[in-house]
Amino acid sequence: MVNKIVLAYSGGLDTSVALKWLQEKYNADVVTVTIDLGQHEDLKLTAQLAKSAGSVKHFSLNCLDEFAVDYIFPSIKSNGLYQGVYPLGTALARPLIARKLVEVAKKEGADTVAHGCTGKGNDQVRFDITLKYLNPNLKIVAPVREWNLSRDEEEKYAQKHKLSIKSRKSKYSIDQNLWGRAVEGGQVYDTENEPPPEALEWTTPLDKTPDTPGYVKIDFVGGVPVSVDGISMNPVSLIQHLNRVGGLHGIGLLDHVEDRVVGIKTREVYECPAAVALIEAHKDLEKLVLTRHELAFKVNVDTEWAWLIYSGLWVEPLRSDLQAFIDSTQNRVEGTVTLKMYKGGLRVVGRSSPFSLYNLDLATYDSWSTFDQKEAEGFINLWGLPSRQAGMLSQNSKKTLTTRL
Ligand code: ARG
Repeated sequence: MVNKIVLAYSGGLDTSVALKWLQEKYNADVVTVTIDLGQHEDLKLTAQLAKSAGSVKHFSLNCLDEFAVDYIFPSIKSNGLYQGVYPLGTALARPLIARKLVEVAKKEGADTVAHGCTGKGNDQVRFDITLKYLNPNLKIVAPVREWNLSRDEEEKYAQKHKLSIKSRKSKYSIDQNLWGRAVEGGQVYDTENEPPPEALEWTTPLDKTPDTPGYVKIDFVGGVPVSVDGISMNPVSLIQHLNRVGGLHGIGLLDHVEDRVVGIKTREVYECPAAVALIEAHKDLEKLVLTRHELAFKVNVDTEWAWLIYSGLWVEPLRSDLQAFIDSTQNRVEGTVTLKMYKGGLRVVGRSSPFSLYNLDLATYDSWSTFDQKEAEGFINLWGLPSRQAGMLSQNSKKTLTTRL
């Protein structure tokens, strides 16, 4: 028995089908929730669609600031890229949405939450784990997964019930928010097809990008960006600004064959100019201020962190443990990084920091260097000691072997 359901609703195909199906199957009140994470959508239209499809109450929540500060910023500190490429835009948004669903369910006295995820993707994993962690008493319903519907069957169901759906015409399955845009399906299914221009929105085609390079200077404090070209901006505006400038120069178009949590390989095209620029700049600044030991260890922590986020484990204690380590490394990640963008290419061309460990007195080849070259000889003897032992043994054993023969 189900009394009241809170549904994460976007107005797209999956969630529109879910809204109708829940009412039919459970004969229960359905409350809909749409969360603005920067997906550039008409939220009034979404609310209208929800109401006309039978939602008893619709919530439209603007969570952009929270998304930027509590989810994207930790990811910048962690150089968060899944399989070294995907900046986790969709993955970071899901635990936030799940948290909001739990809050609305509490407020509305609902016993059930629902989402439009299919049984083939990552999002079901991310939603369900976060929901179960935050409130184990809530029932979870995923109509599309439960009913095992294909996209064609969903289309038929929508037509039969005359559901109005946003962007029905799109051949692609698209998810977008402040941290990036993901495109799947249609011509992108074929791994041999170049990302089709008509599927792209945020990145300018290279033959139309400016013929002169663009430069941006990004200031970081505590591992997160605070200003661009000397102008301080709030987190959301700063990311939006870099999406615009980077996109103009064709930066951040990613073409990725990716491994989903459920084991399926998928081909994704991403557009994430700000994410690519900020992570590139952040990584570079870390190289200036962190020690060799910190860097070597952190790379592994970063990889594990990204995997936890991708695989739906935002709430897992290991994630907070790793976060504590990452945060503690970020105190000195302060300074300015200059990026050069040209025809889809991005380069770090300058960096500086009050905590820079770069010491010209040591690095210079000039006579005033304070580095005593004589010390190098002893260092090399000890550094190579284990290898020299092995070398000696192999020489001796060759001799022993030849005498035995
Ligand atoms: N593969 C990415 C992820 O699992 C993005 C999925 C986005 N969804 C889409 N319909 N394009 O996080």
